[in-house]
Amino acid sequence: MKKYRSQEWFGATDKSGFIARSWLKNQGLPNDAFDGRPIIGICNTWSELTPCNAHLRDLAEQVKQGVLEAGGIAFEFPVMSLGEALMKPTTMLYRNLASMDVEESIRANPLDGVVLLTNCDKTTPACLMGAASVDLPTIVVTGGPMLNGKHKGRDIGSGTDLWKFSEELRAGIITQQEFNEVENNMSRSAGACNTMGTASTLSCMVESLGLSLPDSAAIPAVDANRKRVARLSGRRIVELVKQDICLSQILTREAFENAIIANAAIGGSTNFIIHLLAIAGRIGVPLSLDDFDKHSQNIPLLANLKPSGSYLMEDFHYAGGLPAVINQLLDKVNQDVLQVNGLTLKENYSNSKIYNDDVIKPISAPLQDDAGTIVLKGNLSPDGAIIKPSAATPELLNHKARAFVFENIEDYNERINDLDLDINPEDILVLKGAGPKGYPGMPEVGNFGLPLKMLKLGIRDMIRISDGRMSGTAFGTVVLHVSPESNVGGTLALVKTGDIIELNCQQRQLILHVSEDELSKRRDNWIPEETNYSRGYASLYIQTVNQANTGADLNFLTGKSGSFIKREPHPK
Ligand code: FES
Repeated sequence: MKKYRSQEWFGATDKSGFIARSWLKNQGLPNDAFDGRPIIGICNTWSELTPCNAHLRDLAEQVKQGVLEAGGIAFEFPVMSLGEALMKPTTMLYRNLASMDVEESIRANPLDGVVLLTNCDKTTPACLMGAASVDLPTIVVTGGPMLNGKHKGRDIGSGTDLWKFSEELRAGIITQQEFNEVENNMSRSAGACNTMGTASTLSCMVESLGLSLPDSAAIPAVDANRKRVARLSGRRIVELVKQDICLSQILTREAFENAIIANAAIGGSTNFIIHLLAIAGRIGVPLSLDDFDKHSQNIPLLANLKPSGSYLMEDFHYAGGLPAVINQLLDKVNQDVLQVNGLTLKENYSNSKIYNDDVIKPISAPLQDDAGTIVLKGNLSPDGAIIKPSAATPELLNHKARAFVFENIEDYNERINDLDLDINPEDILVLKGAGPKGYPGMPEVGNFGLPLKMLKLGIRDMIRISDGRMSGTAFGTVVLHVSPESNVGGTLALVKTGDIIELNCQQRQLILHVSEDELSKRRDNWIPEETNYSRGYASLYIQTVNQANTGADLNFLTGKSGSFIKREPHPK
């Protein structure tokens, strides 16, 4: 029989084997649990503080059943969970920390393969980054979206409709009472945000990378089919171990390209970019910001989902889900990549169909012709910035106007409701200090609300530029991830109200029309904003985090160390 990694613990006849087996036996395990069968870790991001993942204990039970049915033994273990709705200053600050927890928990334990149970935004990349640095056979089970929100006879989407209702409340269009009523009707079941926000984007990302079973990304969290997928994933991980198919055999350069193409067609979150870059950095596949522009060019928008379109994830699933989208893209993707179920992408998706062509458009009649991410370069973003055109106002995509600058989030909060603000509808809003080091953690403030003075004029979109991120559920003409960020002295730090900025998406440029002489004078006088973190994880993060254009991982975490451990906890 093939000797698996776990036998380095359980196969020993001396005291080290005794220790490994004996203590586990307090859970009732019989002797044959250690006879050399695959040992599977179920890495669970369950937490009641992460509401989108609060049902993952149930799914873990299904995975366990599947592992047992296939002849393996499963051990569920907790890792740090990251709840988007609650954590301050931002879950992104902790993504890399959680990834360290996942990596070390997998490597240090007697595991032959891993099932990652994820859902809310950062839990998926954190788990994948950690698992990629160990590179065992791995499969991902995502928790699925919530059912559609329902309010006064219409469907409402997580986040997307909140941002709208919130702006309407500020503008005096709806009452506080109506705003409060929406709160009860938006989150109606277990699961993640029901829009094509970051969580569903990343569920689609793992499926298009080939890391979860086909047609699993969009199944609602409460649908019995999600339990079935969890159970089948439990069976499949045992086979992956037997076949010795590691994560790096699935996570190839071609698979990353496929994920970029699929993301453009579903109108996925801009957060996809920063997470995919970080995952590629861990597994060792060269991927740059330019790859996102290159591979998503000429990819049409097919999924009519909020925030880029009209429908929600439940509708997407019933309409054919990600398989229907990938089927439409078959000529554009790498068809021969191996996926986690042992088949190629072509074998998995060549028969997938659209069942509602208002929700999923055929490639012959897309919702939008060219929907992929645009990467903007120029003196304002020498290392790149991004914009999601499918969520933007088309007339603003090429625009030259005066900058109106907020120096940091406190400055913004203080002045945004000032009706005497010297601001015009055509101005370009700039927010500094929202980058990885600056905030710290690069929060989702990039879609910051418009000045009250503009809302009262009926203005609903203006160009906004920042070094922060934007919620996947958000929309607007929003330039994000400006690199280098303002707090390390990027050009963004030097912009003043009254400067002229040019956004030219056609030419992929973001230009600050200020002379080099003047910029150099401003640079000489620039004083970095002090951070108040002198100890603990946040301090380590600020010292070591990379810029957004490479994925904002910690500089000592990129790459992988594999699964080998040199030393034992006890002497012979
Ligand atoms: Fe958890 Fe949106 S808040 S997925």
